[in-house]
Amino acid sequence: MSTELVEDETKFYCKAKKYWKNVPATVDGMLGGYGHISNIDLNGSKKFLQRFLRDGPQKVDNSYALDCGAGIGRITKRLLLPIFKTVDMVDVTDEFLNKATAYLGEESKRIGNYYCSGLQEFSPEPNRYDVIWIQWVIGHLTDDHLVGFLKRCRIGLRPNGIVVIKDNITQEGAIMDDVDSSICRDMDLVRKLIKQAGLSVLAVEKQENFPDEIYHVFSLAMR
Ligand SMILES: C[S@@+](CC[C@H](N)C(=O)[O-])C[C@H]1O[C@@H](n2cnc3c(N)ncnc32)[C@H](O)[C@@H]1O
Repeated sequence: MSTELVEDETKFYCKAKKYWKNVPATVDGMLGGYGHISNIDLNGSKKFLQRFLRDGPQKVDNSYALDCGAGIGRITKRLLLPIFKTVDMVDVTDEFLNKATAYLGEESKRIGNYYCSGLQEFSPEPNRYDVIWIQWVIGHLTDDHLVGFLKRCRIGLRPNGIVVIKDNITQEGAIMDDVDSSICRDMDLVRKLIKQAGLSVLAVEKQENFPDEIYHVFSLAMR
């Protein structure tokens, strides 16, 4: 359904790549001028993730995480590195990854790999990750590429590992943003694509306390 909005796949990806090349490598840049909501976002994510780290048969280990569409490492710094021993980052914009070491400071020693790649072409190493975090980037993939990427994420999970998508969700239907070249999908469509990738949703939570004028943001955990 939403892929019909993408008339030319090559242009869709090129335009997004060009857009991000011109965005400053700052927290405000990562959040399209909404840098002030970063703390609320990260606190909400921490709470969402915590439930999976509690003792129990399905407990998620804290060895290795992957930050997808990581940018300069806003999430890596404040959410993932405080929990996981090692974090890998993948992003299509090399300027952001180049900035990450300085942005992360001393803790950048615990970054395993910086991968400069589009997620549509990226394959997480099999059986490596406890958490694969995918935030504010699924809109940059066509439906088919998102399904393909999620399938490869499945292979990248360790036992008990989870994939988390946190992203903007429309009330109904898919909406194209021609400025950054991305698609915003509704919950039914996101769930359909997750199912097509062979993943089952474990938890869904709406991010509270975000400004009224922006899309609703949901976290979905799956394995
Ligand atoms: C809205 S920013 C979010 C950054 C980070 N996830 C955060 O929340 O702070 C989107 C990021 O996705 C990256 N990106 C865009 N298209 C991509 C693609 N096809 N594959 C991988 N990364 C992509 C951009 O370079 C940018 O860093």
